[in-house]
Amino acid sequence: MISIQDLAVFCKKKGFIYRNAEIYGGMAGFFDLGHLGVEINNNIKNELWKRFVISREDVVGIDGSLMSPESVFRASGHLESFADAMLECVKCHEKVKANEILEAKLHLSVDGKPMEEIFGIIKDNKLKCPNCGSEFKEPELFNLMFKLDVGAKEGNIAYLRPETAQSIFTNFKLVFDNARLKLPCGIAQVGKAFRNEISPREFLFRCREFEQFELEFFCHPEKLNDCPEFDSVSGMAVNFFDTKHESATTIGELVKKNIFKNKWHAYWVSQFYKFFLELGIKKDHIRIREHMKEELAHYAGACFDLEYKFEFGWREIHGDADRKQFDLTQHSKFSKTDLSIFDEETQKKVLPYVAAEPSQGIGRALLAFLCDAYHDDKERGNIVLKLHPKLAPIKVGVFPLVNKLEEKSREVFNLIRQDFHCFYDKGGSVGRRYARADEIGIPLCCTIDFETLDDSCVTLRDRDSTKQVRVKISDLKDLIRKFMDGEKLEKLGTIIKSKEE
Ligand code: GAP
Repeated sequence: MISIQDLAVFCKKKGFIYRNAEIYGGMAGFFDLGHLGVEINNNIKNELWKRFVISREDVVGIDGSLMSPESVFRASGHLESFADAMLECVKCHEKVKANEILEAKLHLSVDGKPMEEIFGIIKDNKLKCPNCGSEFKEPELFNLMFKLDVGAKEGNIAYLRPETAQSIFTNFKLVFDNARLKLPCGIAQVGKAFRNEISPREFLFRCREFEQFELEFFCHPEKLNDCPEFDSVSGMAVNFFDTKHESATTIGELVKKNIFKNKWHAYWVSQFYKFFLELGIKKDHIRIREHMKEELAHYAGACFDLEYKFEFGWREIHGDADRKQFDLTQHSKFSKTDLSIFDEETQKKVLPYVAAEPSQGIGRALLAFLCDAYHDDKERGNIVLKLHPKLAPIKVGVFPLVNKLEEKSREVFNLIRQDFHCFYDKGGSVGRRYARADEIGIPLCCTIDFETLDDSCVTLRDRDSTKQVRVKISDLKDLIRKFMDGEKLEKLGTIIKSKEE
């Protein structure tokens, strides 16, 4: 598998991702998407939105502000608890996350440990600054939220949101009433989140500005297991990692063994697991990991991550917490607004319970999809980015065999680009153009040759198999659509012998 450093180089070279303000030396933890990166990123967000909002009757979306007043984060507990233990070197003043040092050197986590204990471990094990080898000062808690002064008047403090979730909670009652929702139901949003990470690293993996798709799934607190959709996922095979071992099991087994305490939680984890598999992540590159008690966020009763097997190890790409009634209770109390709803079924007021909170980092999903798609094809002599067609930044490359065919080729290009993102390329040999298309993950290439002028047909070439079929221009849009939906190339027309074979 490609290393994260090599992937960063590839992404820059091909126009996927750049370091922010690179011409000024860059800024750690901030990235810009290039002309191809923005397309894959949008495709990931669109797939999430289609699957988990538009196609569901029980979920609606919102789009909240990126910043909120201090009162929101006081109530949510972020002001007090959204902090990492930080170590500062006495000599060079390098600041590092205590967790990182302890994990790397001792395979230990600081989660839930008091500062004195962390300092004791650092001293006992003589852990030193990785930069200059000197000692660390006593650890401090460092809050990860970006603080802002809003407007000209002093003291108007706001924070950039560290998760998108809070505006779902603060708007909960309005959305529930306006959209005429009934329990159980979900409210989703996709957007930026900001965390002032002490040591951003591993390319997009830990940034200071990133995007999340989040969905809060609200249930009646006494009906956490009333999940009619559970039967359809109970038999689903998954890899599960508890604190020590990995096992192949099913979603149903994890509920039976009381690992998942409520069926809605298990259901939502299964849906994102499926999302990754269906969009191309290999079965043995993904697993579910349960959080240990000490790692749980201040709001969570339980949490399960989806982890992806990067070249640098298994890492979280998705989190799903059971947030209980924590947030609605806190916001009701602090805002003095009753956020309970009237439950038609029981004819009683009830404060909804967040049985599951699927939280998907878009950047981490993008990294996982790119790592799994990257193939250094020695036979072809070029990289082939085997992205799922739905995620591919450009869907079709249109090539005139020779420049004389420009007019007809432009006609075909103009026809299909109304519906699909296409790329017109007339530079160099067709083989060179195929290689360029492979490297940026274009799943289909459409070549116009001299026969096209007589038979109104073009050649379609599949990126992954390099197989080719001859199809009518009049059928082209339909066939491309079928291919994007997962139809194999050989089902679209008769395979012809290609020059690549
Ligand atoms: N609302 C719950 C929440 O934010 P989280 O586990 O802190 O939970 C959820 O974050 C997801 O957001 C992670 O699984 C990851 O995909 C993404 N994420 C979190 N911090 C990130 C960072 N610093 N850089 C990139 N992605 C991050």
